[in-house]
Amino acid sequence: MSISRRKAISLIGGGVVLAATAATTAFVTTRTPHKALAPWLAAGSYAEPRKFALSFAILAPNPHNRQPWIVDLSQEGKVVLLRDKQRDLPMTDPHNRQIIIGLGCFLELMGIAASQKGFEVEHDLFPDGEDGPVSVSTFRPGAQPVPLFAQVMQRRSCKEPFSDTAVPSRLVRELSKFAKIIDRPDDVAAVRKLTLDAFKVEALTPHTMRESVELMRLGKSEINANPDGIDLGGPFLEALMLTEQLTRESQLDTNSSGFRQGLDIYLEMLTATPAYAVLATASNDRKDQIETGRKWLRLNLMTTRLGLALHPVSQALQEYPEMADHYRSAHDMLARPGHTVQMLGRLGFGPTVQASPRWPLEKKLAHG
Ligand SMILES: Cc1cc2nc3c(=O)[nH]c(=O)nc-3n(C[C@H](O)[C@H](O)[C@H](O)COP(=O)(O)O)c2cc1C
Repeated sequence: MSISRRKAISLIGGGVVLAATAATTAFVTTRTPHKALAPWLAAGSYAEPRKFALSFAILAPNPHNRQPWIVDLSQEGKVVLLRDKQRDLPMTDPHNRQIIIGLGCFLELMGIAASQKGFEVEHDLFPDGEDGPVSVSTFRPGAQPVPLFAQVMQRRSCKEPFSDTAVPSRLVRELSKFAKIIDRPDDVAAVRKLTLDAFKVEALTPHTMRESVELMRLGKSEINANPDGIDLGGPFLEALMLTEQLTRESQLDTNSSGFRQGLDIYLEMLTATPAYAVLATASNDRKDQIETGRKWLRLNLMTTRLGLALHPVSQALQEYPEMADHYRSAHDMLARPGHTVQMLGRLGFGPTVQASPRWPLEKKLAHG
């Protein structure tokens, strides 16, 4: 979750006024966490084809930006993808379903990037069962470049309010090849209510909220030191941190004004949604989850191409007891009986947002 200037101004609520002095201008311009964003600039700068592809794969969407990937390049022409189990989300993702979807996004992005160098990538998924590698992926010459690569550097999860503009039916038709699109006003209203109710459960359940708060990186130096998790940065949020209006403690205290304001801002964002995209599967094994990630990545690149914003909103799909009622409603509403809703995302026209932090590729290689 990164919070925009607009939201930050409403959070400040007039309590702190930043005068436009030379000092504040300097403060504003020095708050970008350049080190945490450097992997976006390094993407594509490797000659070795696997590293070239991986330098883009690490930019994949993934839950809470945990980046749960480790890659072993010790076998020639192969990438062995391992799940970094230290990066699980035990409270909000107890079965690692979402973590595996993120790894599917990673594999798809790796394949799309490899195609730019003429390589086809074949994935052997979970060859040793669930506890072994996620994939042993073999690079072979012979691929045509996948056109969606053109959108890789602009792709985002857009965690902002969307405009009131409906998604034009021509674009709905185009995206329906990638996901089920919900745009009928009654259906949209029902899903919107579900996302609001489910978000309140996550925020008001102490153990799930604590998991998120522990992953918050507050300000530039924390973001640069740990370029993952929930990055809360930028000049306005950092001003709130300086005046102690935004702290880990306030975010854990549901009675604090900081918590209440943060919740209101998030609910306002969720409300500003004209359509949704849904991916569901008939069964729910690890391969289904990888396939979902691959589809989500392509959907996200396609929304980028069409000028649309996409934002996963996963709360109602999470498998912990406090969420059970909303989980059931989500499945009644969004999937056939017995199927699993794997991804739900807000869809609409949103603002341009900054890229999110990443660990550099070198930190993700099994043997350094
Ligand atoms: C399986 C999955 C679930 C996600 N769920 C949420 C969510 O509930 N709320 C949210 O704000 N972002 C969610 N995201 C988006 C991630 O937070 C985002 O991908 C990550 O922070 C990196 O940002 P980027 O996609 O803009 O590069 C999810 C992503 C994936 C792959």
